[in-house]
Amino acid sequence: MIRKTDTVLITGCGGMLGEGVYKRFTGNANVFATDIDLNEAWLTHLDVRDKAQVEQYLEEIRPDYIVHLAALTDMEYCETHPDDAEATNADSVAYFAPYVETHGTPFVYICTAGIFDGKKDVYDEDDEPHPLSVYGKTKYGGEINVKKYPKHVVARAGWMMGGGPIKDKKFINKIIKQVRSGAKELFVVDDKLGTPCYTYDLANILYTLLDQEQYGVFHGVCEGGGSRAEIARFLMESLGRKDVTVTEVGSDYFKSTYFAPRPRSEKMVNRHLHDLGLNLTRDWHDAVEDYAHKFDWGL
Ligand SMILES: NC(=O)c1ccc[n+]([C@@H]2O[C@H](COP(=O)([O-])OP(=O)(O)OC[C@H]3O[C@@H](n4cnc5c(N)ncnc54)[C@H](OP(=O)(O)O)[C@@H]3O)[C@@H](O)[C@H]2O)c1
Repeated sequence: MIRKTDTVLITGCGGMLGEGVYKRFTGNANVFATDIDLNEAWLTHLDVRDKAQVEQYLEEIRPDYIVHLAALTDMEYCETHPDDAEATNADSVAYFAPYVETHGTPFVYICTAGIFDGKKDVYDEDDEPHPLSVYGKTKYGGEINVKKYPKHVVARAGWMMGGGPIKDKKFINKIIKQVRSGAKELFVVDDKLGTPCYTYDLANILYTLLDQEQYGVFHGVCEGGGSRAEIARFLMESLGRKDVTVTEVGSDYFKSTYFAPRPRSEKMVNRHLHDLGLNLTRDWHDAVEDYAHKFDWGL
């Protein structure tokens, strides 16, 4: 059980998911939020690629829980900078080992649907990973490292949405930015399937798993799933933008921009959370609707 006096270290907390995780844990524990990108006053600098810095910081704050969100999440950057991706996404996990093994510290790691090859339609926790991209391979490397810790939570996320107009680096905000700049026709792929993952629901799931001392591998996505084009179309509806049309295209349309290999299907189901009665998320349509109204998108 998480107590208010417990110390929680969060790495990579300046990102999309970090915003939700910071809000969920703050007030319920003593939170130390860190990142390399200090975009909030409440962040402290910690570069997880620096083993000595990680070890020193752990000795300074002596956390009771570690929530490791730091990662390189731009798939094209990872594809062209594999060493940096490996150091950040995989090797960094091992730098916590001496502390975690000495203190038996619960450790959360966020993995990705991108560890699957997309040959199946829908993946659960028992499916065998076969990552295609450098991002997927390095994230799976991190997952393998974290499974050595007895109290690990591996939460596999899907198509992340959350953080709002400033922090959201992914699909929803990319679509909204096009609309804000006046686009009336959006070209969106219909040959890639996945499940959105709402950062605020995932943050709640992470908190609850730690609070209830439930460890293991969990898929943590919304219910259902669809193509990028379906999601874009529903987003336009949610934002009341009937004037904007979505034209379906194949992935080849974007092959020079998004050149990292992506699985045909990244759809996942949260079987382990369902089994525990802890599937604290919602249908992706409800999450998109909620997200569309949570922020002022400047439209
Ligand atoms: N976004 C997705 O679609 C997605 C999907 C599945 C799983 N995940 C996983 O979810 C977790 C949270 O990611 P997110 O969605 O919140 O992405 P994000 O917004 O990119 O957040 C990751 C944060 O980590 C920071 N970071 C990068 N390198 C670091 C380093 N060496 N030391 C410390 N911090 C560093 C990033 O800073 P910079 O902004 O400066 O790089 C960023 O603030 C990650 O483990 C990610 O792999 C994400």
